[in-house]
Amino acid sequence: MEKQRAGRNRTMTLNDAEREELRKEISILSDNCTVDDAIDKTFNQDLFEALDYLPKHFADLIIIDPPYNLSKNFAGNKFLKTDDAAYIEYVRSWLPKVMELLKPNGSVYICCDWKCTSAIYQVLSECAVVKNRITWQREKGRGAKTNWKNAMEDIWFGVADNNDYYFDVEAVKQKRRVIAPYKEDGKAKDWEETDEGKFRLTHPSNFWDDISIPYWSMPENTDHPTQKPEKLVAKLILASCPADGIVFDPFLGSGTTSVVAKKLGRHYCGVEINEEYALLAAKRLRIADTDVDIQGYTDGVFWERNTLNLQKKKR
Ligand SMILES: C[S@@+](CC[C@H](N)C(=O)[O-])C[C@H]1O[C@@H](n2cnc3c(N)ncnc32)[C@H](O)[C@@H]1O
Repeated sequence: MEKQRAGRNRTMTLNDAEREELRKEISILSDNCTVDDAIDKTFNQDLFEALDYLPKHFADLIIIDPPYNLSKNFAGNKFLKTDDAAYIEYVRSWLPKVMELLKPNGSVYICCDWKCTSAIYQVLSECAVVKNRITWQREKGRGAKTNWKNAMEDIWFGVADNNDYYFDVEAVKQKRRVIAPYKEDGKAKDWEETDEGKFRLTHPSNFWDDISIPYWSMPENTDHPTQKPEKLVAKLILASCPADGIVFDPFLGSGTTSVVAKKLGRHYCGVEINEEYALLAAKRLRIADTDVDIQGYTDGVFWERNTLNLQKKKR
């Protein structure tokens, strides 16, 4: 049954006619495929099956947002919380195989929460050079009476070759308001005066506090229970995938990685076991044919939270 939603709720949904139409845009692999066959595709099947057919060393960047070690219902496909040792074995059952799809100079990011971060670090360090751990303060989280509210996630960054990987720091600088505008010889030092105020472009750190999770008033929002924000994925892609490169996501969900890759002029490939989510990805990819907006990324820079009005003025 269709959910009743408030008038201003922009959550993207599918009706039966759209489902039928969008099924033409998702595929299933049943044989070895070439890079040309794999790119700009959404494969609706179990990753463990797709891994047998995808080409080796084809991706410049792999973004992984796996089921965390939590009991979660992904539209009927239930993931059950397990003990730490069993979760490590679960990650070991797919991560080394996924890493075989990465180019020798490629990069990988893996999302996780505090509970599965050590498992992810352990297995990632067995098959890549771990470069960093980004902490994303995602703000929203369920309050608890006997524990601290969980309001952060980790994103591990790894590379296949420590001496040869792509990283474009200029592309991911952040536009921040200047609190203490320092002048040297009467001239602004490292900041600029604009109609909107005084701003500075700053180097991005591994603590991200400028990204909200998608919520119902945002056009990117779907009913996927763990959808990642487009702005977060945009930072990963701009920093670690060259223009025209290929981004692979083995747990595609509602399609965020592929959609952002397309909006930023990269190729994409994603695998998602659930048909409803794969179809949502297909719908979002169609919309990205004409709408390449990424909320929070305007004019080639990442803006702080709560600056949407200023960004709109820029458009
Ligand atoms: C954490 S979510 C990813 C959400 C995604 N980043 C987004 O923005 O929508 C993990 C996804 O992996 C899918 N999944 C779980 N096991 C899978 C498998 N064996 N093969 C393919 N997809 C799987 C789930 O259905 C779920 O949509």
